[in-house]
Amino acid sequence: MTYDFKIQAADTPTLYRDLSSALEGLVAGESDAVANMANAAALIWESLPDINWVGFYRNIANENGERELVLGPFQGRPACIRIKFGDGVCGVAADTRKVQRVEDVNAFPGHIACDSASASEIVVPLIRDGELLGVLDIDSPRTGRFTEEDEAGCVRLGEILSKAI
Ligand code: SME
Repeated sequence: MTYDFKIQAADTPTLYRDLSSALEGLVAGESDAVANMANAAALIWESLPDINWVGFYRNIANENGERELVLGPFQGRPACIRIKFGDGVCGVAADTRKVQRVEDVNAFPGHIACDSASASEIVVPLIRDGELLGVLDIDSPRTGRFTEEDEAGCVRLGEILSKAI
């Protein structure tokens, strides 16, 4: 079986519409969360211009029973493995359960720099039946890379992913 998901679109809403359709197709009928996160990271990596990292942090209890974000499938440079709730952009997204769209990561208090090339970032909490499963994190080397249209598109991707992981 071959997948050819090279997505090119004239405008951002169309790009995310095509990307959402591709993602729905990619996860359809598969219940394994790791497989779906891995393919989703690869699809987003191949489809979105100007990004240098995309991947997942999962909400997992550590050995002391405290919830932490733990690195999941991703594309890009190796990243920090564990993030506490409230720390960095991902930890704030997990803590508040609100999308964090950061124009300039260097201006975000407590931002965790995994790749010094990252300049802007969007983090979408993944919630199913009131439970925080984890977050989808996308980084860009360009300041202000993520617009309101990107946020709407990423929220849609998050809705699909919340049912697939
Ligand atoms: N910058 C993130 C950490 C994860 S990396 O970007 C992959 C943060 O501040 O939470």
